[in-house]
Amino acid sequence: MGRTIIFTGKGGVGKTTCAAATALQCAKIGKKTLVMSSDPVQALSDCLDVELGVREPKEISKNLFGLQIELEKEIDEHYGVVRNFLTRLFQSRGIEEAVASEMVALPGLDELFSILKISEFIGRFEIIVLDTAPTGHTFRLLSFPQVFSMFGKYLLRIQRGIMRIFEPLRERTEQVVRTPIPDELFFAQMEGLMERVNQMRDLLIESTMTTVRIVTNLEKMPILESERALTFMNLYGLTVDGLCVNKVIPETINDPYFKKWKETQQEYIQRLETTFYPLKIFKIYLKEEEVIGLKLLEQVASDMYGKKGDPSEIYSHDKPFTIDTDIDGNVIMKINLPFAKKGETKIRKRGEELVIEIGEYKRILLLPKIAQNMKIGGARFEGKKLIITFIRKNKNP
Ligand SMILES: Nc1ncnc2c1ncn2[C@@H]1O[C@H](COP(=O)(O)OP(=O)(O)OP(=O)(O)O)[C@@H](O)[C@H]1O
Ligand SMILES: [Mg+2]
Repeated sequence: MGRTIIFTGKGGVGKTTCAAATALQCAKIGKKTLVMSSDPVQALSDCLDVELGVREPKEISKNLFGLQIELEKEIDEHYGVVRNFLTRLFQSRGIEEAVASEMVALPGLDELFSILKISEFIGRFEIIVLDTAPTGHTFRLLSFPQVFSMFGKYLLRIQRGIMRIFEPLRERTEQVVRTPIPDELFFAQMEGLMERVNQMRDLLIESTMTTVRIVTNLEKMPILESERALTFMNLYGLTVDGLCVNKVIPETINDPYFKKWKETQQEYIQRLETTFYPLKIFKIYLKEEEVIGLKLLEQVASDMYGKKGDPSEIYSHDKPFTIDTDIDGNVIMKINLPFAKKGETKIRKRGEELVIEIGEYKRILLLPKIAQNMKIGGARFEGKKLIITFIRKNKNP
C-alpha cells in the first residue's frame, strides 16, 4: 500500500507550500510521487509554477506528478442527485433556490472527495501528498460513519420514515407543480456516499501508511487551531506525525524591528515543543520572498527534512488510541489528548457504544466486544492522556 501524507491547518499558514516542498523532496530521492490539491484557487499550481493535470496526473519533473482535483465535477457525479432532490425539497417548502443550495452543501463533502482521490491513485504512486483547502471542514465527515452505517442497516425503515415525514408536507407539496419524492437513484447515491465515507475512514484511520501533518505559524490563532486539530485527529484515531512550524524568523536576522517578533516566536516554539511532545516538529524559516518555484520549495524541503531526508518516513508511531486489559480483567482505554480540558470532556456509555464529547467534537465509537457489557468505572486525565476504565457491571468502581 502506498504512503499518503496529508497537510492540514488554518488558512494561509503554508499548507500548500509544505505539501509541494514535501512532494518535491520525495521525488528527488527517487520515489514516484503525486501531489494533489482540491483548492479551487489553484494555489498548488501557482506555487509549483507549473500547470497541473486535471483528469490525469501530469508529470512536473522527474518522479513528480501533479493533479488539480475538479471538485465540482466529482460532487456532481456522486452527490448531484441527492443534492438536487434536497434542493427541490427545500424549495418546495418556500426556501429560495440560492438559500436551499447553500443548505444542502454538506460541510466536509469537498474533503471527502479529495481524500477519496487518494484511493484512485494509490496503486500508481509510491507516495501521495494531499494539500487540503482552508475550509476548516477537513475530516469532519469522519463523524458521519455511524450515522451512515445505521442508514445502511435500516435503509428500508428510514425510507419509510422519510415517507412519513413527507406526509404532513404532502398537501403543501401538492400545491407546487413538482413534488419531490425520493427515487431509487436518490437512495443509490446515498448508499454510495455512505460507502465512500467508510472508504475514507479506511484510508485515514485503518491504514498505517496514512499520516497527517499539521501546519501552523507562530501566532496565537493558528496555534490554537493546531491544538484543536490534534484533539480532533487523536479522538478519531488519525495518526498525526508532525507539526510544521512555518515562517520562523531566521536567527541571522538582527534588525531591531523584528526583536519582539523573534522573542515571541522563541517563546511559542518552546511552548510547542513541550505541549506537542513527542510529536516531531518541522521548523521552516521565513524566506526572503514568497515561496514560488522549485528552487525556493527545495529550501523549504531542506528546512523540513534536511537535504537528503526522506519525507515519507513515519515520524511518529505513537498510537492515538490504545485499548488493553489489566490484570483484574478491566478494560483500559487510553487516548492521547494533550489539549483536552477536563471541564469540556464528557464521557458516557450508550448500549454498545461509547460517546466522547470534547468541546465541539463528539465521537461515538463501538466498544470492543469485551467492554460492551461492562460499565465505565472511571475516567481521568493523566499527563497527556485520557484514561477510561471499564469494569464488570457487578463490581463497585
Ligand atoms: N516559509 C515561507 N517563507 C515565505 N513565504 C512563505 C513561506 N511559507 C509560505 N509562504 C507564502 O505564504 C503564502 C501562503 O502560503 P500557502 O499558500 O502555502 O498557505 P496555505 O496554508 O496553503 O493557504 P490556504 O489556506 O489559502 O490554502 C504564500 O504566498 C506562500 O508563498
Ligand atoms: Mg493552500
